[in-house]
Amino acid sequence: DKGDYEYFMLKEIYEQPKTIEETFRGRLKSDYSEIVLGGLMNVFPKIEAAQRIIIIGCGTSWHAALIAEYMMEEYARVPVEVEYASEFRYRKPVINSNDVVILISQSGETADTLAALHLAKEKGATVIGICNVVGSTLARETDAGVYTHAGVEIGVASTKAFTAQVTVLTMIALKLARRKGTIDPEEYKALVKELAAIPEKGRAILEGNEHIKRIAEKYYEAVNALYLGRGYLFPVALEGALKLKEISYVHAEGYAAGEMKHGPIALVDDNLPVVVVAPQDDYYEKVVSNIQEIKARKGNVIAIVTEGDTGLKELANDVIEIPKSHPAVAPLLSVIPLQLLAYHIALLKGCNVDQPRNLAKSVTVE
Ligand code: F6R
Repeated sequence: DKGDYEYFMLKEIYEQPKTIEETFRGRLKSDYSEIVLGGLMNVFPKIEAAQRIIIIGCGTSWHAALIAEYMMEEYARVPVEVEYASEFRYRKPVINSNDVVILISQSGETADTLAALHLAKEKGATVIGICNVVGSTLARETDAGVYTHAGVEIGVASTKAFTAQVTVLTMIALKLARRKGTIDPEEYKALVKELAAIPEKGRAILEGNEHIKRIAEKYYEAVNALYLGRGYLFPVALEGALKLKEISYVHAEGYAAGEMKHGPIALVDDNLPVVVVAPQDDYYEKVVSNIQEIKARKGNVIAIVTEGDTGLKELANDVIEIPKSHPAVAPLLSVIPLQLLAYHIALLKGCNVDQPRNLAKSVTVE
């Protein structure tokens, strides 16, 4: 039931403050001292002892994996590899019984992800599932797992499942770091608190929907778009571009902002909208200089900025403000305006946002 919403996708975007909360509810202790993941209890010693962690998924789930790579390496100091399931399963990867393999899938039925699971299992790795659909094949065939509590996702373009996956991965990364003693206890607590604050900040972003719609009206006729971000927000740039191409059929590319000068900058002209995820974090100065380079070539910059950033308001053509947050949890916020932007552009182009052409909600063929 779509309720008051015109499309499931919009409903699901709006549900995110609630679904993120559902996903961490009962798993974060109220004093932020502990993270409880019952489903992983038996395998946590294995995760702690792992020489490396391999995270596998497709599409949006693969983007969630990339965010986890940054977080697990930064805080838990364990090498992480992220793989497309369709590559991993066919490329004769080296896997052994000390490896922990995390498979991410909203549906839990994606054929390539299940094949990757079977391969990892065969090689003796510990296999962990993160999925949304209760009782799905992935949930049944893994050694252990954590459900995302996003509720049924109907829109083909994944939105609330993505933020729920990132929420679960954040909890795993922080719990692992805490158990390994690789994170400062105060920073751990602060980060858990930051995660708990996401739903409220997400609501504030959704209040900007009309503003985002007006930005969509300015750019919806563009035939290409570029999305840029650095650090934790590089995967968000990839996800923003994927959302746009899936539902509006506009060609969009996501790029690490630092890679721009190695190729994509050649595309920049006055017809190219460039969406830059540019909150005030450690990368800010670098990202601002990327924006200057785009402006110097007459590109149109839509910047996702920290609330109150007046500098970028002047430099960029359009800005979308998001509340300040810790960089490691910023993806959960900055992806929301990108989902809305794609949604409005698709509607303006007359596309069926819930059922884009050529796509299936669950890719059970290879
Ligand atoms: C993007 C999208 C797809 C899925 C991918 C994996 O919006 O929906 O890219 O993310 O097909 O699906 P799951 O997570 O069900 O394995």
